[in-house]
Amino acid sequence: MFSKAYSATIHGIDGLIVSVEADISEGLPIFDMVGYLGSEVKEARERVRVALKNSGFRLPPKRITVNLSPADIRKEGTVFDLAVAIAILAAFGRIPDENLKDILIIGELSLDGSIRKVNGVLPIVYSAQQQGFAKCIVPKENAKEGAVVGNIEVYGVSSLKEVVALLNKEIDIAPEYVDIIKIFKTNQEEDELDFSEVAGQKAAKRAIEIAVSGMHNLLMIGPPGSGKTMLAKRIPTIMPELSFDESLEISKIYSIAGLLDQEGLILKRPFRAPHHTITTSALVGGGHNPKPGEVSLAHLGVLFLDELPEFHKKTIEVLRQPLEDKTVTISRLNASFRFPAGVMLVAAMNPCNCGFYPDRNRCNCSINEVKRYLNRISQPLLDRFDLCIEALPVKYQDLDRKMEEESSEEIRRRIHGARAMQIERYRGQNILFNSQLSPRSIKNYCNLDNKEKKLLEQACDKMNLSARAYHRILKVARTIADLDQSELINCKHISEAICYRSLDQKYWGD
Ligand SMILES: Nc1ncnc2c1ncn2[C@@H]1O[C@H](COP(=O)(O)OP(=O)(O)OP(=O)(O)O)[C@@H](O)[C@H]1O
Ligand SMILES: [Mg+2]
Ligand SMILES: [Zn+2]
Repeated sequence: MFSKAYSATIHGIDGLIVSVEADISEGLPIFDMVGYLGSEVKEARERVRVALKNSGFRLPPKRITVNLSPADIRKEGTVFDLAVAIAILAAFGRIPDENLKDILIIGELSLDGSIRKVNGVLPIVYSAQQQGFAKCIVPKENAKEGAVVGNIEVYGVSSLKEVVALLNKEIDIAPEYVDIIKIFKTNQEEDELDFSEVAGQKAAKRAIEIAVSGMHNLLMIGPPGSGKTMLAKRIPTIMPELSFDESLEISKIYSIAGLLDQEGLILKRPFRAPHHTITTSALVGGGHNPKPGEVSLAHLGVLFLDELPEFHKKTIEVLRQPLEDKTVTISRLNASFRFPAGVMLVAAMNPCNCGFYPDRNRCNCSINEVKRYLNRISQPLLDRFDLCIEALPVKYQDLDRKMEEESSEEIRRRIHGARAMQIERYRGQNILFNSQLSPRSIKNYCNLDNKEKKLLEQACDKMNLSARAYHRILKVARTIADLDQSELINCKHISEAICYRSLDQKYWGD
């Protein structure tokens, strides 16, 4: 008596189909589970045994062997419980084998036979659909996120008994349905935050507009209360609306992290602002059974590191690689896991401990203290920021003055134009934004005439800039030209781009 059910696990951010085989034979009543199992999966044995008993399934005393394959992938978590119980019941002849053929089954069992929610349902259902499964049985609480995938029937269930009845066609459950168009529409409603609330700050707003247009990383330096945090929080309001595919991509990551709410989809661009006490693994991902970190939870949105120098130096240095590659790779003994990390990094900081350097009327820090504070940010990390701006406090008279400030909507419209230029230019190139240009593609797409070349070379000589800085200026100039709807990069574009490099000279230069 042998039966097979299908379940799945998460590998990186993808679902991986796992077959669950159960064999019943004569012999001592022993229940064995094999197939490269983590400790939680080993404990499934007890949960399944008790849950079967408490659900009223009395099984004859036989030898039970359950095998999870493929054998070369370590199975972790509680997601297989339900499929193991079902495979055993089928092997005992309580469910016809053919009823399990094109169904994927996931869920954790409680001892009383009820089914608990699990993480990663969205990517699992997505993989099941891709591999041609017709149906998925998932915990009731996860049904919505599963149904989001579409083109596969998703049944939300709450007890083992119910699942058996469903598989034996004794009861009918309607597959879960999610009206994607409707939830996307309701999401278009107004954001609570808007750039029109920020008085003045013209220069900072301009730099933010450029940064968002080309997905450039941005660093803001300024004294306390100058509005750095306020500005950063409004960045998602000028980013393009999420497409369904983007929403799905982000939602998969949240599903694995167990952070999807009842809606089943993330509908807004992420804005993640982890506190500076965060650990390395919480920031970039990790753990025994690797989970995505903040840099992945911010994928396709903004990762905001407020008070940058307060972060553990080691923690932020670990970010350097993911920022460059747009993915996080975590290596474990037998496998390596990849999580997406396509973020726009925005950081804010004070220039010194008291916050008011270089205003000598208010800052008493010695030059050495200032240097030590600034040097918490290493040069290579500093190099990751394409734009560096100073946020200066707005005078209270200006705050009072009822000036008409531009709304996020208006800024977003211009950004849309710059994005359209990039989409057109990089069609079929695997490049989405100017910030992603490699040194070689910079040569192709950021051509300069002699006059422009000379201007940039002179600036680099004068400011003693590295090759990396040179490339960053070119990429930013490309974005500024795109905002201008100009295929040519002219001197005006170059000079503005140079300005965004000159600030790190002011603070970090000798
Ligand atoms: N340009 C502005 N327009 C309107 N309000 C502002 C502006 N700048 C600052 N404020 C007000 O000041 C408050 C403090 O700003 P914010 O917290 O963004 O400063 P910060 O630069 O992040 O300071 P810190 O360095 O102390 O973190 C804001 O919540 C807002 O009420
Ligand atoms: Mg702040
Ligand atoms: Zn100071």
